[in-house]
Amino acid sequence: MNLQQLKDVAAAMVAPGKGILAMDESHPTCNKRFEKLGIPTTEDKRREYRHMLLKADEMGQYIGGAILFDETIRQTTLDGVPFAERLQAIGIVPGIKVDAGAKALALHAGEKVTEGLDGLRERLAEYYDLGARFAKWRAVITIGDGIPSQACLVANAHALARYATLCQEADLVPIVEPEVLMDGTHTIERSYDVTHAAQAQVFEQLEEQGVALEGMVLKPNMVVSGYECPERADVHRVAEQTIRCLKSTVPPQVPGIAFLSGGQTDEEATEHLNAMNALGADLPWRLTFSYGRALQQAAMQAWNGDAANIARAAKVILHRARMNGAATRGEYSPEMERAAA
Ligand code: 13P
Repeated sequence: MNLQQLKDVAAAMVAPGKGILAMDESHPTCNKRFEKLGIPTTEDKRREYRHMLLKADEMGQYIGGAILFDETIRQTTLDGVPFAERLQAIGIVPGIKVDAGAKALALHAGEKVTEGLDGLRERLAEYYDLGARFAKWRAVITIGDGIPSQACLVANAHALARYATLCQEADLVPIVEPEVLMDGTHTIERSYDVTHAAQAQVFEQLEEQGVALEGMVLKPNMVVSGYECPERADVHRVAEQTIRCLKSTVPPQVPGIAFLSGGQTDEEATEHLNAMNALGADLPWRLTFSYGRALQQAAMQAWNGDAANIARAAKVILHRARMNGAATRGEYSPEMERAAA
């Protein structure tokens, strides 16, 4: 393990004014989003789409790292440049999703555990050769009647820690992602309690397995009310509760925390991140974004599967990247959306 390299890569991923672009949707997820818009679910269309996402050179001003899917890291852009090389050329660190997805947790109805540890050492070595310098593994935790169970929290945290050690051994920075889903009727207080328990368990397991905290990035959910909760907490409360939670679970050695968007609207995700960074709290880690949908969805609609729309759609994602870049500095305002339009 080259700790200095891990630290340098982690610092680049969450550099001031920058965040991470999650463009690592698996085939089923990507295809589902294409189908909604009537876009053919072919390998060529997925390639054209991801070419569009990285078309603007200026993306590198706001994006420090991009997470690719296995198919994409083996493909080239429409100009024939391997995607990992394209990323490096515009100053973005290439990363790779390495988990094999969340599967039903045995004997625990409604709960999941993420698989993918078998053969991971060999896959990581190959991804490193293909240009990846960081990796991602996502655990999924559902809030419901009597769940999550302790069994679910422990199984997922343990897998995350095993994955993280294998990454660091291979000189890849692990993004550790315990995602508490935002679906449901739960209150923000319940969201806080479950998020706190999940993160505390993760850091217990990371410590137990000997993960170097200076060489990782945490990718958590924000502490929000469930989407179907009758009374949803406002932006300020989300910012406050999310930071309160992170302060009590995340050791100061962790260089960066990059949130997932989790089904929030584009502007909601930007406003929440901005509110946290505008609180002016003296925090030991950088707070930034690692959004999938909240960066991509407007651009996907603008592209709509038509190559003639690539240039226009590339401007749409660049705009979202810029807005979120401003939010990492606490300098975003909704007027910036209108000014750009
Ligand atoms: P969303 O921002 O769409 O939640 O996706 C982030 C991600 O990478 C989930 O693993």
